[in-house]
Amino acid sequence: KKVLKVALLGLGTVGTGVYKVLRNQETEMMHKLGCEVKIVKILVRNLEKAAKKVEDSSILTNDWESIVSDPQIDLVIELMGGLSPAKEYITQALEAGKHVVTANKDLVAVAGKELLDTAQEHKVDFLFEAAVAGGIPIIRPLKQCLAGNHITEVMGIVNGTTNFILTKMTQEGMEFQEALDLATELGYAEADPTADIEGLDAGRKVAILASVAFHSRVVFGDVAIEGITKITATDIRYAKEMGCTIKLLGVTRNTEDGIEAYVNPMLIPSDHPLASVNDSYNAVFVHGDAVEDAMFFGRGAGELPTASAVVGDVFDIARNIQFNCCTRISCTCYKDFPIKKMED
Ligand code: NAP
Ligand code: HSE
Repeated sequence: KKVLKVALLGLGTVGTGVYKVLRNQETEMMHKLGCEVKIVKILVRNLEKAAKKVEDSSILTNDWESIVSDPQIDLVIELMGGLSPAKEYITQALEAGKHVVTANKDLVAVAGKELLDTAQEHKVDFLFEAAVAGGIPIIRPLKQCLAGNHITEVMGIVNGTTNFILTKMTQEGMEFQEALDLATELGYAEADPTADIEGLDAGRKVAILASVAFHSRVVFGDVAIEGITKITATDIRYAKEMGCTIKLLGVTRNTEDGIEAYVNPMLIPSDHPLASVNDSYNAVFVHGDAVEDAMFFGRGAGELPTASAVVGDVFDIARNIQFNCCTRISCTCYKDFPIKKMED
């Protein structure tokens, strides 16, 4: 195949980032993959608004049918967010034999298993590296590089918006709302930032991490969640006086009694490695019996960092198609482990 044809669904923060990264990669991708990855259609709601963001507005459409029924399109990148119509579109794309890449943690955290099953049934890939910790590679390392481990713990800072807010409140004495507005302006926050500040976004990521790390099936509803809306300037001052900093942590453990999964603001000693993870950066610790401790660090949100992870998935699929590899990256096995009810 000389050209892998891609349809992009959504041209917001991450969609625009993916458009830019693919354009920046135009020359290099030929060396890397031996083929061109070309966006041939972009699904948007508002054609006029989107036309300002692309060079050739003839690739814009608001007709999903024209994408899913086009046999020339090999791969769909879903970056609209939300559960519906994202779930219906992804399912239809997989059923039509198209590979799918998404950054949609809302969806993966509730229907990931179902969508992976559909992908497996139709012999295509369904990849979601960007759904957890933005630009940081974590899904692929857990599934592949660390597969030789019995993993017992995955924990860390998995929401860029709340980490940005806590950093600004701690280091600059900024008000909560001002910091949130800035995070939204910088493209870190979700379309509805309640998901960030109430810890729901981190909870979704914890569910995905637990499912991948423990080959289990942990969904969003299994995660006990508290966000940062109750954190005040006084809490931050007391934390400082105690030689600590407040971070919103997502934690999942595979214990003898079942899987624990929770999100909570916690006091971290200032000399702990997580205390120096600031702004929109994320960090994820993994403990495995062979590797012992591994830490992944980088930009957890934003246009280009997130696009980096999305395009990484797209290139993996392109390479598989180009070299006729039969391994599908998203193939998965899982077991239903008991989930521990967390006390308040
Ligand atoms: P966003 O800026 O709100 O962009 C979403 C885009 O999708 C908007 O342009 C929206 O159009 C469009 N859209 C929504 N529903 C549509 C529909 N039915 N048909 C066509 N277009 C539709 O969101 P984002 O920040 O790019 O996030 C996209 C996805 O990536 C979400 O799942 C998010 O959770 C995930 N993610 C985001 C980040 C980040 O840092 N932002 C990081 C990791 C993962 P309108 O402009 O008309 O509303
Ligand atoms: N709103 C999310 C965050 C985007 O702030 O981490 C990245 O998933």
